[in-house]
Amino acid sequence: MLDKTQIIEFPKIKDSRGNLTFFEFPNQIPFEINRTYWIYDVPGGELRGGHAFKSQSEIIVALSGSFEVKVNNGFEDQSFTLNRANFGLLVPKLHWRSIENFSTNALALVISNFKYDEDDYIRSYNKFKSLVDV
Ligand code: TYD
Repeated sequence: MLDKTQIIEFPKIKDSRGNLTFFEFPNQIPFEINRTYWIYDVPGGELRGGHAFKSQSEIIVALSGSFEVKVNNGFEDQSFTLNRANFGLLVPKLHWRSIENFSTNALALVISNFKYDEDDYIRSYNKFKSLVDV
């Protein structure tokens, strides 16, 4: 499951007081969380990401608002619009990804199976291509 870019639907507990969504390992997510971060107050037209990771996988959730995640595995492009708080996008390691078209007040939650490590980043697309072109 960790090697395929895919949308994961999380439980949504809905009652007259509103909605509640959760995930926990291993029932809803395929890895244990080592880090959580969130991206917000992104000015219109700005792009985040534009890199791949050697080892870490991530799940990205639009907790509010919407944005587009573009994912490239070295061979083909996929694009996902995230705009619901009970869906996440799993982006495996060795996938080039960027996040763009943030709506006003968009809040992107990202969970990762690794702690922050700049050495895990691949910030050159050519280097990324050479790693996956084997
Ligand atoms: P970066 O991952 O490049 O942002 P994005 O992919 O959203 O465009 O991170 C931006 C800066 O924040 C960079 O200097 C590294 C730092 N950073 C941390 O210190 N810890 C983290 O967990 C993350 C994700 C980034």
